[in-house]
Amino acid sequence: MTPSPSAHLPLGDQRTGRFYGHDILSVSQFSRDDLEYIFGVAEAMRTMVQHVGTIDLLKGKILANLFYEPSTRTQSSFMAAMQRLGGSVIPISEVRYSSVSKGESLPDTVRTLECYADVIVLRHPELGAAAQAAAAARKPIINAGDGPGEHPTQALLDLFTIVEELGHVDGLTVTMLGDLKFGRTVHSLSRLLSLFDVTLNFVSPAQLTMPEKVTAELSRRAVKYSEHTRLDAVLPQTDVLYVTRVQKERFEDLALYESLKHAFVITPDTLKAAKPKMALMHPLPRVGEIATEVDADPRAAYFRQMEYGLFVRMALLAMVLGKA
Ligand code: CP
Repeated sequence: MTPSPSAHLPLGDQRTGRFYGHDILSVSQFSRDDLEYIFGVAEAMRTMVQHVGTIDLLKGKILANLFYEPSTRTQSSFMAAMQRLGGSVIPISEVRYSSVSKGESLPDTVRTLECYADVIVLRHPELGAAAQAAAAARKPIINAGDGPGEHPTQALLDLFTIVEELGHVDGLTVTMLGDLKFGRTVHSLSRLLSLFDVTLNFVSPAQLTMPEKVTAELSRRAVKYSEHTRLDAVLPQTDVLYVTRVQKERFEDLALYESLKHAFVITPDTLKAAKPKMALMHPLPRVGEIATEVDADPRAAYFRQMEYGLFVRMALLAMVLGKA
């Protein structure tokens, strides 16, 4: 649906919501002012869910959830978000049972779904797939992860989590740990954090460093960042420790994956060197990077992070559908 949302508004429609009719493809499209607006709506959604549970804001609207890759959180939270706002969902989580398995292209698949739905959430294994879908679609496309590219709604909920857990973003030191090469959540979060006065530490095995494309963007924006292979060098100064899984599905050499998968494991012992007030985050799923013994630590924010995602995705759906 790129680039002009106005072309997709019903004739005579006077709604002027900030994101009405827009795609959400990359965090690069957001300003600080936008973030404040989104988080304000997300807070209102949180209050509504806690006090009422469900409302009719999006009654009559339909979301198509089109997932070419596995997902638990993104898929189910978008589904829950739509249902809590009174709308309904076409879930396509097993594309092999759809006409994709007959060879239907991505553009034709989104052209089909937009005949039945008002907005499409897309997860796809290929970099740039969301932009390709948006170019073909008349209805808004929300990128739910395009291969190793971006995961903008995750970055929004990650930032919302930081605000909820620590109260502010400016002045924080954020350390990202693990698979920074293939982990799309850290690509999006780094870009989003570049809007703030933060210090970024990237800690990874030498084979899984942050892509040059991302670090070059950070340099252009004069963001303070440094790269490391050891966590202990930066942990004591860290306010947010953002841990990621080594992304097995992106490796061509599985022996290399096996050698790196447990390069970093956070245990209660690790956290002895961390600040008493720190947010330990993870987009999840985890596959051993954070020991379960850490879950009871008040700094462990990763389960709360998932719940914040519901409120942020409710806000996004309401906004792109002109109801926020
Ligand atoms: N964080 C995240 O994207 O999780 P899922 O893969 O389960 O959606």
